[in-house]
Amino acid sequence: MTSEQTYDNILRAVDGPVATVTLNRPKALNALNAALMAELTDALTRLDHDEAVRCIVLTGSERAFAAGADIKEMAGASAVDMLGRSTLSGFDAVRRLAKPIIAAVSGFALGGGCELAMACDMIVASETARFGQPEINIGVIPGAGGTQRLTRQLGKTRAMELVLTGEYMDAQEAHARGLVNRIAPVELYLEEAHKLARKIAAQAPVAVRLAKDAVLKAQDLSIEEGLDYERRLFYLLFATEDQKEGMAAFIEKRPPQWKGR
Ligand code: CAA
Repeated sequence: MTSEQTYDNILRAVDGPVATVTLNRPKALNALNAALMAELTDALTRLDHDEAVRCIVLTGSERAFAAGADIKEMAGASAVDMLGRSTLSGFDAVRRLAKPIIAAVSGFALGGGCELAMACDMIVASETARFGQPEINIGVIPGAGGTQRLTRQLGKTRAMELVLTGEYMDAQEAHARGLVNRIAPVELYLEEAHKLARKIAAQAPVAVRLAKDAVLKAQDLSIEEGLDYERRLFYLLFATEDQKEGMAAFIEKRPPQWKGR
């Protein structure tokens, strides 16, 4: 594994085609302050442009994925201050990623931490993970997708309860309700996320990219528009060398050699 640390609030490591970004403000339970968000935005944007990287894992510590936006940093801000700050930029960076990103979540995933995990494409959680939108307890509401993504995933009534009470949901419920792809014991959840990432990283890169794009579109488009969109991407893949290779390999009964072309 090669790793380099050029950031103060996150760690970045690349192991073959899988990159891992670790939120690293342990004393503040990885609260998402402006500095961390700027670093996260930078790291994710670079990894998205790095051809060798095929899948990204975003994680925190065993105790906390992230306990939300940094309350101490926001406490005295005016609405105009908030508008001018880039504290939510990391969420946009995750949303803009062309490559798949998996959140590996243990402990607290609260407020912006829950929203950051939900902005990722998949979530692998430890048995100790707790998800919640406790903003109501501090006089605000979720500001980075909580009301929208939780509601789409859990349905109106459960999302409403979580957002209005600020209570947490445990990993087992999150798994049962489809918010989380899989759960694992705390000592294994990160390896489980890496296993999933390696599996995706071994697939044809252009097909992975377009497949992600199409699945995300399903949340925004009507079924008619979504089916048309998918069909166009499907045809587009016949312009790739990997489509020819994948189908030839099947017919010749051998493993494919992907070029990402
Ligand atoms: N912002 C700033 N600092 C935070 C923080 C946050 N969101 N969450 C925890 N911390 C800090 C604590 O202030 C504490 O620092 P000090 O030691 O300097 O006092 C340190 O992290 C450890 O936290 P606790 O002592 O509180 O640990 P605990 O185990 O007793 O409690 C917790 C853990 C339940 C997660 C509790 O820290 C907590 O409730 N945190 C706030 C959760 C929250 O409200 N998140 C939503 C933020 S708003 C938001 O995210 C808006 C949005 O949608 C973008």
